[in-house]
Amino acid sequence: MRHLLDTATLTREDALRILDTAEDMSDTQRREVKKLPTLRGKTVVNLFFEDSTRTRISFEAAAKRLSADVINFAAKGSSVSKGESLQDTAQTLQAMGADAVVIRHGASGAPHTLATSGWITAGVVNAGDGTHEHPTQALLDAFTMRKRLYGDDSRGRDLSGTRVAIVGDVLHSRVARSNMWLLHTLGAHVTLVAPPTLVPQDVSAWPAQIVYDLDEAIAAAPDVLMLLRIQLERMNAAYFPSEREYARRWGFDARRLAALGADSMVMHPGPMNRGLEISAEAADSAQSTVLEQVTNGVSVRMAVLYLLLAGSTTSTATTSTGEE
Ligand code: CP
Repeated sequence: MRHLLDTATLTREDALRILDTAEDMSDTQRREVKKLPTLRGKTVVNLFFEDSTRTRISFEAAAKRLSADVINFAAKGSSVSKGESLQDTAQTLQAMGADAVVIRHGASGAPHTLATSGWITAGVVNAGDGTHEHPTQALLDAFTMRKRLYGDDSRGRDLSGTRVAIVGDVLHSRVARSNMWLLHTLGAHVTLVAPPTLVPQDVSAWPAQIVYDLDEAIAAAPDVLMLLRIQLERMNAAYFPSEREYARRWGFDARRLAALGADSMVMHPGPMNRGLEISAEAADSAQSTVLEQVTNGVSVRMAVLYLLLAGSTTSTATTSTGEE
């Protein structure tokens, strides 16, 4: 595996290889093996141009648990504020010995540019780019679903027949896009639930059903209900009714939790707007996998770094560039 840029071009075989490797990583953590020597001598750079808690910290934890050295870069407080370009920033970090660059950027396509421009030779992992994709979030979500559905019997299994409703601000959500593509590849059925103003224009080309009524989606008894963060920072009045109206019509609250089947999972990638897209009762319920998702994120990111820096030479995908 050379880069991980998206899930839209990720094959079923490579997705399962990542998920199964994450199972191995999770096993080592369960056995309280805190550190593996696998990436000793390698350097991972976390290159974050946008804020993050879960993704940045879990990539750092993942790299350290594999004994890699980690350099954390945040655009705030760096020479980016003096106008330094992505190319110069990346080449500066590569000159310090980066073997892999984990990048989060506000511009859709920035990780692809980094991977294909020839500016650097390091492997590139997309940690979220604009409204485009967030592939490791989708992988950790799929890992979490598989684990809840199949427990210790998860290895080698896809999500065939699993019915997943993704609810909320689909328009601005890279999490929704990455999940939709990966879930489709793994055989799941995806329903998108959103106000009409928060559905992207090109949605008819997506392998998903669209529903505008959350109660209708809940009545269909999905196996998984995944709430999306309302991205208030990207919103304008044309898109968004009002917080009160949104919470009433599309918020997942105690009443809707009671209407959902007791076996259905409630997921959220975080950070959550409690009281807006999800209530505290739902977020903290036994059906919620929010903290499991965070824990699983470390195992999945360990798997990605392992496959990028030490892994199989037979994999040819997990790159939208066509490179090996
Ligand atoms: N889910 C997610 O990407 O969270 P952060 O923005 O905290 O990394």
